[in-house]
Amino acid sequence: MSRPSVSRTDFNNVGACPTGLDPRRMPEHIAMIMDGNGRWAEAKGLPRIMGHRAGVEALKRTLRLCSDWGIGALTVYAFSTENWARPGDEVNFLMALFERVLQRELDSLQQEKVRIKFLGDLQVLPSKLQNLISEATALTSENNGIHFNVCTNYGGRRELVFAAQKLAERSAKGDLDPSLIDENVFASELFTAGELDPDLLIRTSGERRISNFLLWQLAYAEIHITDTLWPDFDATALREAIADYQSRHRRFGGLSSIDSCYAES
Ligand code: IPE
Ligand code: IPE
Ligand code: MG
Repeated sequence: MSRPSVSRTDFNNVGACPTGLDPRRMPEHIAMIMDGNGRWAEAKGLPRIMGHRAGVEALKRTLRLCSDWGIGALTVYAFSTENWARPGDEVNFLMALFERVLQRELDSLQQEKVRIKFLGDLQVLPSKLQNLISEATALTSENNGIHFNVCTNYGGRRELVFAAQKLAERSAKGDLDPSLIDENVFASELFTAGELDPDLLIRTSGERRISNFLLWQLAYAEIHITDTLWPDFDATALREAIADYQSRHRRFGGLSSIDSCYAES
């Protein structure tokens, strides 16, 4: 869903916003490329998998912070369609880790009213993980807390191809007139259907690329890149990212900043 060019005076989900940030201009949706687990571990002389373990703690911390600070949605990149190219041991460890963490954290996600979804080509994941994903999605689907989207076996190009296939199927069946396919119809076939586009993309570990993440949805996101490695990401790093976001002038192709529109309203 594209970002409405309206003021956010109706945004009343303001949580305990940290000092130095403007509570009226918090990003509504943050997307996160959680990168640098392997380097974090290697720098400590540990195997890469220890970095992934520490990455889970950073994720729990970040989800709680976003929820406490009134962020409406957090979409994280957990495993890309390209990550299968890693050594089998690392891939197997990651799949087992996703299963363990989901099993262990489901109760507290539910208590904290988190609505969890998994975005990606889920059919090829191990069947135990698929079952846990279905259970967690169904259990939390009515929750009114933060939207927590975990991109697992996710690739932006694959998502676009899937959307094109679904639209083609509907057209071939006679259910959809191709001339009626516009940006909203297209977006309704993406994994993120119904979610506002991210306002802010954060990538940790200093890499300056988007690595096939949310190719459609990031069209007008502000980008913050930090050298912090994902396992070290904390409240200070998140506050810095949001302060950077709040210093930007979002114009969406126009001439006046949407921020000034917030300020006037
Ligand atoms: C990100 O950390 C986690 C996943 C891609 C699963 P990396 O594993 O990519 O860590 P680096 O980039 O090698 O340090
Ligand atoms: C992006 O990180 C994918 C995830 C964080 C899950 P990568 O480490 O896979 O990206 P590249 O290979 O550096 O582009
Ligand atoms: Mg990496």
